[in-house]
Amino acid sequence: GTPDNGRAHLPAARRDGPFLNACRRLPVPHTPVWFMRQAGRSLPEYREARGTVPMLEACAIPDLIVEITMQPLRRYAVDAAIFFSDIVVPLKAIGVDLDIKPGVGPVIAEPIRDAAAVGRLRPLWPDDVPYVTEAVRSLEAELGDIPLIGFAGGPFTLASYLIEGGPSKNHERTKAMMYGEPELWARLLDRLADIAIAYLKVQVEAGARAIQLFDSWVGGVAPADYRRSVLPHSTKIFSALEAYGVPRIHFGVGTGELLGLMGEAGADVVGVDWRVPLDEAVRRVDAGKALQGNLDPAVLLAPWEIAAERAREVLAQGRTAEGHVFNLGHGVLPSTDPGALARLADLVHEESAVHAGT
Ligand code: CP3
Repeated sequence: GTPDNGRAHLPAARRDGPFLNACRRLPVPHTPVWFMRQAGRSLPEYREARGTVPMLEACAIPDLIVEITMQPLRRYAVDAAIFFSDIVVPLKAIGVDLDIKPGVGPVIAEPIRDAAAVGRLRPLWPDDVPYVTEAVRSLEAELGDIPLIGFAGGPFTLASYLIEGGPSKNHERTKAMMYGEPELWARLLDRLADIAIAYLKVQVEAGARAIQLFDSWVGGVAPADYRRSVLPHSTKIFSALEAYGVPRIHFGVGTGELLGLMGEAGADVVGVDWRVPLDEAVRRVDAGKALQGNLDPAVLLAPWEIAAERAREVLAQGRTAEGHVFNLGHGVLPSTDPGALARLADLVHEESAVHAGT
């Protein structure tokens, strides 16, 4: 079908504010800002809303998804909302036996290590995630001009959880398959790419106005191997989303050596962690891309004036990019004071407005 399928319920035109314009490298009145993991354990109202509901159950309850997605917008002057879900939700939805263990992360009951197991990974259909469609539609109505960012897990990161069976430091079995069984690896990543495409399409067709592909753990892969073994699958994902015209953001941790390739995969915006200053990231990424990042989330645990000074440095370095979306270099740490994030969002707006149009 055409990319407009399913979007008939949406209001005719929403204004594109600073977030979407910065992603498109257009002029903005101030640098837009949002925070990875802006909804979550740093907020007392999140802990209250979650109560004892297990994470993956919470991700399937539309009212709860909407409430948790909206919570940070009531506290912070952020320019975008991020859909409350998890990268493993689509895997759960196709029947993979997995759980998110508090303090650990996703744990898979039967890790995927051979051709038979890869063969059992079926495609994701929109009917598998009706709660996502419902929640995104409600959010779009509630958010007004604030855009909703949809997201999916990148192929390496999802493969690592599936192959290792849980979080991993060295991704040993994952890399053993990548190096040793390249055909099986390619088949697995191709299936994961199709699942990510389907999950992202559900969100965009229901009203998400940008998407982010989180390949969080791909930073452990060398550039030549990334090009050979990961990039084709990420490229497939970004190409499949191209016709929708929504900005596509690509992020991973420790990806300093991969930034150029992650842009090449087809991202409009390359997410940068805190290890590479944005003016250096500009040199590593092809022209025609915006950048997102990259304040060290841990600096918010230091006194405010220290964090403020570092945020000003990020803004200054971001001015060398064709477009800059301010963010942290990774997700909000659970021990972060929400008051510091509120001040940070205001600082980004106030101090970048001085430079706008000059
Ligand atoms: O505000 C947002 O950014 C949106 C929500 C979001 C969650 N997970 C909610 C969540 C997003 C974008 C994700 C993506 C995600 N999940 C990634 C990629 C982003 C990244 O951080 O690099 C990854 C690697 C995962 C896998 C995952 N899920 C981990 C490592 C954890 C943490 C486990 C723990 O308890 O420390 C989760 C659970 C999770 N996902 C929580 C939240 C709010 C915590 C669940 C809880 O409240 O107990």
